[in-house]
Amino acid sequence: MKLPQKSLEGNHLPVMIDEVTKLCNPKNGGNFMDCTFGAGGYSKALLKFKDAKIIALDRDDRVNEIANKLKNKFQSRFVFFNKKFSKLDLISSKKFDAVIFDLGLSSLQLDDLSRGFSFKSKNKLNMSMGQTEISAKEVINNYSKQDLKDIIKTFGEEEEASKISTNIIKDRAKYQINTTDQLVNIIRRSKKKNFKKKIDESTKTFQAIRIFVNKEISELIDGIINATKILKPGGKLIVVSFHSIEDKIVKFYFKNFSKNHSRSNKYLPEKENFLCLFENYKNNIIKAKSKEILKNPRSRSAKLRVAIRSANEFIDPIELRTKFKYLTDLEKRFA
Ligand SMILES: C[S@@+](CC[C@H](N)C(=O)[O-])C[C@H]1O[C@@H](n2cnc3c(N)ncnc32)[C@H](O)[C@@H]1O
Repeated sequence: MKLPQKSLEGNHLPVMIDEVTKLCNPKNGGNFMDCTFGAGGYSKALLKFKDAKIIALDRDDRVNEIANKLKNKFQSRFVFFNKKFSKLDLISSKKFDAVIFDLGLSSLQLDDLSRGFSFKSKNKLNMSMGQTEISAKEVINNYSKQDLKDIIKTFGEEEEASKISTNIIKDRAKYQINTTDQLVNIIRRSKKKNFKKKIDESTKTFQAIRIFVNKEISELIDGIINATKILKPGGKLIVVSFHSIEDKIVKFYFKNFSKNHSRSNKYLPEKENFLCLFENYKNNIIKAKSKEILKNPRSRSAKLRVAIRSANEFIDPIELRTKFKYLTDLEKRFA
């Protein structure tokens, strides 16, 4: 008997696809950059409009097969690069109507237990989304107690980071911590029992190590800054994020570099060198509707923000880099 073939796209459901498509407004065509191709949900939705052209990126080479299928079908309307989005401005000299980021992991990555993202598996600690210099195993077995504590506390917002890092150090003196279940056991032992907990005890630590391994904060900051360079005046910078640190970064950028940026004191004159990269920004967060959340619980924590590029010349928003330097410096630590 022939078994049904699992689709390449697996079980990934694109988050807020209608909202993203509406914002892109592809009815009359346009150039769009899908910076986080994944299972191709957003690219496919936009390609339904016959004059829409997409450049898509993903750091994970396991999505190449899905991208190749789209390439065959849509030819020159779809181009894919297996690259990280931090350098997206070096990919094309075109100006774009929208640049879209849908951050974090796809279900393809989470469901592939061999990649070590899921704490429900017994696989090798890896957690690379692709094109990383280090694995989770190297971090867990080589980084100092202080570094582990800083990483777990800052990127995971884990209150019991100190206890968890102490126990990692104790255990690794006895054996090499190679697998996700070994790390899960250490976390369980370290944390106070909380019977009302809404999320698994390991969620925050796993998230922190994953962010560190993939340098996700540096990627995001470089990505949104470089996206600003390649947008047309009136073009949209669209970001869907799932983590409070990511949303804080996007919010700071959109609020402080828009025409109506909040002044420290409204009676003081506007700073002469104020850098306005975006039109008026309303600080609106778009969230998934309850119907979508029922179908795709992952969409519950998604926050969509959008800013519209002004016609002003691009100048590097140094304040954004300085404000979050403590995070990008932490991502640069090595054992
Ligand atoms: C949430 S999924 C995107 C899903 C996609 N919107 C869809 O509808 O199928 C995020 C994807 O972004 C990719 N990614 C994450 N960080 C990246 C980066 N810095 N550069 C390029 N791709 C990245 C991941 O490998 C993953 O495939």
